[in-house]
Amino acid sequence: MTADLYRELRLAGVDQFSVSLDFPDERHDDFRSYPGLYRHLEDLIPRMARLGYDDIVLNSCITSENLHEIGAIADKAREWGVNLCYSSYSARRTGCRDLLPESPEQIAALNEYLDRIEARRDGTNWIVNSKSTLDATRRYFENSGIPGCKAGHRFLVVTADGALQPCSMQFHRYSLEERRRMIDEFTAHNACDQCYVSIRSYLDKSFPQLLWENVRGFFSVKV
Ligand SMILES: C[S@@+](CC[C@H](N)C(=O)[O-])C[C@H]1O[C@@H](n2cnc3c(N)ncnc32)[C@H](O)[C@@H]1O
Ligand code: SF4
Repeated sequence: MTADLYRELRLAGVDQFSVSLDFPDERHDDFRSYPGLYRHLEDLIPRMARLGYDDIVLNSCITSENLHEIGAIADKAREWGVNLCYSSYSARRTGCRDLLPESPEQIAALNEYLDRIEARRDGTNWIVNSKSTLDATRRYFENSGIPGCKAGHRFLVVTADGALQPCSMQFHRYSLEERRRMIDEFTAHNACDQCYVSIRSYLDKSFPQLLWENVRGFFSVKV
């Protein structure tokens, strides 16, 4: 990514840029096995943010390795002038539970850090996850899963070769015309509770709740 590419992509119609950040320093390079990556982001992202389009979001996947850093990652987003979206590690993607916070100590620490994040919210979109999403994130880690997934119905994946899948971790493939069949065959019987990644956390909510969370700011309703 470069500042020129950023401008070109905006001209082509891209209106949100998600940048993964796992640590607020060079540990990001180690975690990603990509030397120099953090330094590149540290140089580039504040420069892009200063252009003022407010379309850059850091995506930070909470794992057992970085859960102690989630406050510092929020500080980094603020320092760089961008927003932050927390996401949750799923062992379903990797087949490895080592990075899944599961022990009582890890869960207690995570809850404490999330309490601190809640206390620091301001009127901006700095932390883009709503409180209800972060509350559900806590439940996901506490219970090592969260039921009620509506993959295929409320969201889906279009693969590079033009097929539909309910999500990127369920390899049931349908043609573009078969969405209804995907819902009937997959979503209606889906018992998988093994992720709470951003797309699911945004879209599993009921329509009234989504409406409430997204429009109340426009009416300055205090709750
Ligand atoms: C699947 S990745 C694709 C984007 C990019 N290639 C990357 O690796 O960051 C989208 C987001 O999912 C996160 N992610 C990676 N592995 C994950 C896992 N096992 N569970 C949940 N999120 C994961 C990444 O950190 C990233 O922010
Ligand atoms: S919980 Fe839903 S979105 Fe997540 S892996 Fe399972 S089916 Fe896919």
